[in-house]
Amino acid sequence: MKVLTDVYVLSNGVKIPKIGFGTWQVPDGDVAYNSVMMALKNGYRHIDTAAAYRNEASVGKAIKDSGIPREEIFVTSKLQSHIKTYDGAKEAFLQTLEELGFDYLDLYLIHAPWPWNEMGKNCDEGNVEAFKAMIEFYKEGKIKAIGVSNFSPKDIDNIIKNTDFVPHANQIAFFVGLDQEETRAYCEEKNILIEAYSPLAIGYALKNPIVIDMAKRYDKTPAQMLIRYCLEKGTLPLPKSTHESRIIENSHVDFTIKKADMDILDDIHDDPRRWGN
Ligand code: A2P
Repeated sequence: MKVLTDVYVLSNGVKIPKIGFGTWQVPDGDVAYNSVMMALKNGYRHIDTAAAYRNEASVGKAIKDSGIPREEIFVTSKLQSHIKTYDGAKEAFLQTLEELGFDYLDLYLIHAPWPWNEMGKNCDEGNVEAFKAMIEFYKEGKIKAIGVSNFSPKDIDNIIKNTDFVPHANQIAFFVGLDQEETRAYCEEKNILIEAYSPLAIGYALKNPIVIDMAKRYDKTPAQMLIRYCLEKGTLPLPKSTHESRIIENSHVDFTIKKADMDILDDIHDDPRRWGN
C-alpha cells in the first residue's frame, strides 16, 4: 500500500512514514514479536513502542530478525512518564536503546506531561529538564527527532519558552469523536506533527453507526474509515492489531473521504471510549 511508504516531513526535514504500527498493550514476548514481524512483512515501515509498554526488547528483536535494513524502518519510543529529571532521562534513553538493540532512535517522546498516577500535576520544570537531555542526544545524532506525547498547548509552550526548541511531534489520542481541535490547530501553527494514537478509540469507534453506514457507502471497513479520517486531518495514525488480517486491512487506506463526509465525522463529539463500559 502506497500510504505505508508515503511520508510526512518533520520540521527538521526528517521523513516519517504516514502510518505507524502501534504496540501499546501488546504483550512482550511472542505476541509483540509476531505482531511487529507481521506488520513489517506486510509493508509497514514505522513502529511505535515505549519503555512503559515493556515490549521494547521483542520489538527490537523483530526489527532485527526481519532482515530489513535498520535505516528503512522508522522507530519511536518514549520516556516513561514518571521520569522528570535530566539524569533520569539520560539514563532511561540509553536503557531504551539497549532494550531495542539499536545504536540510534528515529523519534523519542516524553510519554506524558505528568506521571500517569498523578495526572494533571504540574511538572513544567521536570519536563524541561528531561527535554534538555533529549536535545543533547538529538544534537549528538543518537535521536533523529524529538517530541512529546499527551501534551496540551500550554505544556508545549513551557518547553519552547524554556529550551528554545520546538518539539517535532506530539502524540495524542485522536479519533472520530475526539478531534482535539485546539491542540491540532496549535500544533499545525507551530509545525509540530500530530500522531494519532488509538485511531479506532481502542476499538469502540468501530461500533459507531454513522461510521458503519459511511464505510458501506465507500466499500471500506469501519477501521479503514477511521484510519483514513486521521490522515485526512493531517495526523499520523498509529493503528495496532495482533491479527494479520487486520494489520493488512488497516493499511488499505489509499482512498479519500469527501469533504461533506469529513464534516459529518467532524460533527461527532462523543468520546466513544465510554460506549463499551
Ligand atoms: P486485535 O489486536 O485483537 O486485532 P486502537 O488502535 O484504537 O487502540 O484500537 C486497537 C483495538 O482495535 C485492538 O483491540 C484491536 O484488537 C482492535 N482492532 C485493530 N484493528 C482492527 C480492525 N481492523 N477491525 C476490528 N478491530 C480491530
